[in-house]
Amino acid sequence: MNNKKIFLIGFMGVGKTYLGELLANDLETEFYDLDLEIEKKAELPVNEIFSELGEAKFREIEAEILQNWNEPGVISTGGGIILDKKNRKFLKNSDNLVIWLNPSWDVIRSRIANSYRPIVIQRTEGELHQLWGDRNHLYQECADIIFEGSDVHELMSLM
Ligand code: S3P
Repeated sequence: MNNKKIFLIGFMGVGKTYLGELLANDLETEFYDLDLEIEKKAELPVNEIFSELGEAKFREIEAEILQNWNEPGVISTGGGIILDKKNRKFLKNSDNLVIWLNPSWDVIRSRIANSYRPIVIQRTEGELHQLWGDRNHLYQECADIIFEGSDVHELMSLM
């Protein structure tokens, strides 16, 4: 386990940070949140990267960090990580375990309802539902494991 990279992917609100921290703890490995790594690199919070530098710049930094990622551990990614083809290639082709957290839309919707994430505040609920539907095949394309639950031990039993 010690050298393994376990990437958690999935839409906003699926529990990547929550389950990722529990998983890293149980596996006695490090936990990383790629959004925090992006914030450190840009020296700005995600919302301000979007508003001041634009989404394209955010995606550029996100891709650069992911594609140079070398640290073993559990890594929570942003919901849009799978939009970039090279990101998908990186996730799939390297010696990674990729877990797609995939609860129902109702669970996701309730979790992101009052979020100030830039992708959420710019969209209606119908548009977010559409975005979720549009992205799902990209998460699926990268996933070694698909997990619909919320219990970390149940997740570990699939690994
Ligand atoms: C995004 C998801 C966010 C963050 C950024 C863009 C997206 O991460 O990377 O706001 O495009 O879905 P979380 O999935 O951790 O909220």
